[in-house]
Amino acid sequence: MQEWQVARLDDIREPGALEFTTGGGDWPFRGMVVRWQGEVKAYANICPHKGHPLNWLPDGFFTPDQRQLICMSHGATFAPDTGLCTFGPCAGENLRVLECRVENGAVWVTAPASLLEV
Ligand code: FES
Repeated sequence: MQEWQVARLDDIREPGALEFTTGGGDWPFRGMVVRWQGEVKAYANICPHKGHPLNWLPDGFFTPDQRQLICMSHGATFAPDTGLCTFGPCAGENLRVLECRVENGAVWVTAPASLLEV
């Protein structure tokens, strides 16, 4: 695990989310940074149901009403502030929470350098 600068806070809408990858090679780690009600959260972009990335479109993590995160594969929804699955095939499970901080407008996340380290 190491700390990565993954985004500028100003680049993320509120509410909104931005995807990022860390490391390189064939199996980069995929994550997301979420802005929600004045807070910044980071999660692995790995659905607890089947391990798919949540989004199909770039940065497309929110439901149309902007109240939940959604996995496009089978429709699981997640609370933006905790990553708890609130509906769907993995209800009660949680997105993997990543340590996250904002410093001088930059968003830093502690994450693995590869999907193989998860
Ligand atoms: S992989 Fe996310 S709901 Fe099935």
